[in-house]
Amino acid sequence: MSAPEEAMTGAVAATRSQIDEIIAGRFACRDFSDAPVGRGTIEQILRVARFAPSGANIQPWHVYALAGTVKDTVSVALREAHETARDAHVSEYSYYASDLPEPYLRRRQEFGRLFYGSLGIAQTDLQARSGQTAKNYAFFGAPVGLIVTIDRRLQVGSWLDLGMFVQNVLLAAAGHGLQSCPQETFSKYHRILRPLLSIPAEQMVVCGISIGRARDVAKGRLMPRADIAEFASFAGFEEQSATQMERTRPWEAETS
Ligand SMILES: Cc1cc2nc3c(=O)[nH]c(=O)nc-3n(C[C@H](O)[C@H](O)[C@H](O)COP(=O)(O)O)c2cc1C
Repeated sequence: MSAPEEAMTGAVAATRSQIDEIIAGRFACRDFSDAPVGRGTIEQILRVARFAPSGANIQPWHVYALAGTVKDTVSVALREAHETARDAHVSEYSYYASDLPEPYLRRRQEFGRLFYGSLGIAQTDLQARSGQTAKNYAFFGAPVGLIVTIDRRLQVGSWLDLGMFVQNVLLAAAGHGLQSCPQETFSKYHRILRPLLSIPAEQMVVCGISIGRARDVAKGRLMPRADIAEFASFAGFEEQSATQMERTRPWEAETS
């Protein structure tokens, strides 16, 4: 079985409900068709996504939704910067720890192997890798790009809230039969994005999100996930009697 097939099979096997299917069926799409997505659909996605929880309900998200020539202008400017001046640009926040400890280092290495392997790009081929990175700035061909920002005066807890909002956007898009890709790489070019989109100084560019229809939905998820035993521990569940479980939550009794 190929890596994408395995990753998809694992995801499908994990589903028990419609929301499970949407969560496990979402994947980072990096090849969109140019089929348009209307403003009404994006508004509906954001209307639902805003129900993300946030500490004290402060709702710390801000979104610039781009399509048409505005999106194209952004893409051209960022692609040019990527070609000619990429070392002159740096994100206002660190996404990754500079020294990744295990097991994260091993997972990132697996990501690189699977990702570049799927594209037929050797990991040592820096030019081909840079060409792939450039596709980010064209929103991978998607008709809609979102730029997500947060007020820099807020603390790390608000970034947690923002992550929930971003995930809601991805899931709401999936509910409309749309694919998406969250992209931190846009944060690097905040100095270009700021004047183009009139982003106020107090807002920090966190990420982009491409939204559209995958050119080939069958490609699906490429990336596997660690088993729950690798990241979760359980305590006290034995105290609930089997009969009680059977009576109140039969689906859990069945799967445990
Ligand atoms: C906040 C965030 C930022 C990301 N930034 C990028 C990016 O800049 N470019 C990209 O191609 N993928 C990006 N990704 C996608 C991840 O690589 C992808 O989610 C991960 O490999 C797991 O794959 P899956 O989403 O298909 O399950 C990002 C994901 C997240 C959550």
